[in-house]
Amino acid sequence: MERRKIAVVTGASSGIGLATAQALGRAGLDVFLVGRHPARLRAAAAGLPRGRLRGRAQADLASLDDLRALIVQVLGLGHVDLLVHCAGEYDRSEAGRFDPERFALLFDVNVRAPYLLTQGLLVALARARGQVVFVNSSVVRGAGEGVALYKSTQHAVQGLTDSLRQDLNRRGIRVTSLYPGRTATPRMARIYRREGKRYRPALLMSAADVAGVVVALAQLPAGVEVTDLHLRSVHRY
Ligand SMILES: NC(=O)c1ccc[n+]([C@@H]2O[C@H](COP(=O)([O-])OP(=O)(O)OC[C@H]3O[C@@H](n4cnc5c(N)ncnc54)[C@H](OP(=O)(O)O)[C@@H]3O)[C@@H](O)[C@H]2O)c1
Repeated sequence: MERRKIAVVTGASSGIGLATAQALGRAGLDVFLVGRHPARLRAAAAGLPRGRLRGRAQADLASLDDLRALIVQVLGLGHVDLLVHCAGEYDRSEAGRFDPERFALLFDVNVRAPYLLTQGLLVALARARGQVVFVNSSVVRGAGEGVALYKSTQHAVQGLTDSLRQDLNRRGIRVTSLYPGRTATPRMARIYRREGKRYRPALLMSAADVAGVVVALAQLPAGVEVTDLHLRSVHRY
């Protein structure tokens, strides 16, 4: 019998992660959902095609205890074909503001968590000759006014992804950095509201657009790796 492919998706309760989990389920992968809130996780699980939910874990990725428990739970699956890092925190700060707790939180969730989760799941990923997709951001390319903290976490993720790729490729694991531009998600709606700008989601990419790219990556032959992929809407506004 053919082995069923397993995808583990963080941030599976909202936006790009939610759309990615659903698209992977529709594409025939079993999906393991990771999120913070039980009710949102339940709703995400209910949206998967019948039989595609491989499990779910409630984890606050800022917590090392939750991360350890998550790694143990996922290793219990035996193999992981695809690990998609979609969970993330965002921050916009006024000049002169100083919030060390926020600084630590963003680095814990955006950088430390995907790093530790990838390292913790290496054996299961290697067993499947799997793939890891880091959902990064187009913010690494622009000046990013007002988002120094968020931007610095995304540059850190870029650095760790580039370096990890060298080690992981030797074990047969492929690593992709995905850099979406502005995408219509609950986070983006909040950002436009905060910026006092009219929110026009039809002019942005949809979460499903980004999810479709992750599905395409999952369907690549095991010998092919896409290292970096920049996505953006054709509309400018
Ligand atoms: N939207 C865009 O335009 C855009 C562009 C470029 C890159 N991205 C990247 O895409 C990823 C997803 O963004 P999105 O727009 O889809 O945002 P979103 O709708 O706000 O979703 C963020 C996800 O991250 C989870 N999360 C946040 N903090 C967490 C924590 N401490 N522990 C566990 N989970 C946590 C959230 O869980 P809860 O449901 O529990 O809050 C949610 O599932 C982010 O990494 C973001 O940087 C987004």
